[in-house]
Amino acid sequence: MNILVVKDYEEMSEKAAHIVVGKILSKPDSVLGLATGSTPIGLYRKLMDFYNCGLVSFAETITFNLDEYIGLSADCSQSYAMFMKNNLFNHIDIKRENCNIPSGTINDRSKECQYYEKKIKAHGGIDLQILGIGRNGHIGFNEPDVKFEAQTHIVKLDEQTIFDNARFFERSEDVPKSAISMGIKTIMQSRKIVLLASGKEKADAVFGMVKGQITPKLPASVLQLHPNVTLIVDEDAYSKINNNK
Ligand code: GLP
Repeated sequence: MNILVVKDYEEMSEKAAHIVVGKILSKPDSVLGLATGSTPIGLYRKLMDFYNCGLVSFAETITFNLDEYIGLSADCSQSYAMFMKNNLFNHIDIKRENCNIPSGTINDRSKECQYYEKKIKAHGGIDLQILGIGRNGHIGFNEPDVKFEAQTHIVKLDEQTIFDNARFFERSEDVPKSAISMGIKTIMQSRKIVLLASGKEKADAVFGMVKGQITPKLPASVLQLHPNVTLIVDEDAYSKINNNK
């Protein structure tokens, strides 16, 4: 694992944007795997800046998001589909038909899971996957005790995740209890992975991911087995590793 320790959120976002823009410049029709949450918002802002300066175009880029809440339609304000529109897609020249997010409202969920996997494969797989990390070590919505062989699947959200994500909802009861998420296998099939982590509250998860045992109890630890992972981590999120040197 290639580890870049940076000063703060700003520098993390900038470094990540450089990797993404470099990828798009070398391969404009890159397939990007995208994440939601507070962590990648700064990266998305930087991508908009690069686009606004005329340095990059996303006109040929394809994206696949990691996950979506079950029960939230794409036009619901808390859906990840809406998050992506508000934080990136509406501000760059990406074609809407090239932006893929699993549906949280389709009746036949297992068909949707298979369809999503097939679509990723039909585009030749993910070139560059962006990840955040949950405080419990989840990636996407792959919660502790996930099966490492899982592909896109329906997951029951962990109590910790529901608690953490309640900040995006009016009431904590409104947080959906399940989601559709790319699986660990889907993520591991990406050619390159960039995981972003910022803030003290991520220090335990980052420590476990980098220094801990490889275990489904901390899903991100599986990334120790991927040949091309870059962790961009700020000093706060890296603090537990630094303190244990
Ligand atoms: C969410 C998402 C993850 C994200 C994580 C961390 O639940 N499903 O993809 O990485 O939680 O979120 P944040 O960046 O807001 O800390």
